[in-house]
Amino acid sequence: MTFLADSHAHLIDKAYRKDSSQVIQRALDIGVKLIINLGYDIKTSSKAVDMAQDYPFMYTSVGVHPHEAARVPEDYLQNVKELAQNKKNVAIGEIGLDYYRDISPRKKQKQVFREQLLLAQKMGLPAIIHDREAHKDVLKIVREEQGGKNSGVFHCFSGDWEMAQECIELGFYISIAGPVTFKNSDSLRDVAKRTPLHRLLVETDCPYLTPVPYRGKRNEPAHVKYTVETIASLRGMKWEELAQVTFTNTKNCFRLD
Ligand code: NI
Repeated sequence: MTFLADSHAHLIDKAYRKDSSQVIQRALDIGVKLIINLGYDIKTSSKAVDMAQDYPFMYTSVGVHPHEAARVPEDYLQNVKELAQNKKNVAIGEIGLDYYRDISPRKKQKQVFREQLLLAQKMGLPAIIHDREAHKDVLKIVREEQGGKNSGVFHCFSGDWEMAQECIELGFYISIAGPVTFKNSDSLRDVAKRTPLHRLLVETDCPYLTPVPYRGKRNEPAHVKYTVETIASLRGMKWEELAQVTFTNTKNCFRLD
């Protein structure tokens, strides 16, 4: 059986309130044997850590998403640190900047991003980076705080190939999500095709960003297969081969045996 990995899922989302165990079973049935489960803030990160205790193939990343940056309590960094010490936790994230929705003031987003990047570095954990329409500032902060000193992944990559090259030079992985299956995704397809194989990850970011042919419906880890199939065909590979490579890369990125 071919193994697949979903490097970024939000199974704690209320979208799975009623059927998370069935969703997880469907993923397993299709061969998804590694899932990184993430929250958005302290409360949901804590939920993700609890959920991972029940599944040997599930790990977590904890942190505060830029949308939540303005709402964090004073001592949030201590909370992130404590959750990050759990033995099922393998990263800090998702952290970053979101100028598309601009829910938190940009100044606050930058502060919370910087603080968590430094925490990741101090704890020796990779960072999972969220960047939406904030390429320049995200790269600047990563370069200043972490370039060469730690690594991680640019999740749901949305930049162009020029940016991807810079992320790769900084030591990061590039994670491709469902939008690569959409019609108007030439720039992302170009990145998916050109990223060196050993730096490529795949993810669902479920419940969001559902790939074709389920676009518009709720996403789930089993659907990562459509993203793998699309990238494999762009690269002229068998999907099984790409599944194997991205499974191994996910283990390497998050330092799992
Ligand atoms: Ni996400």
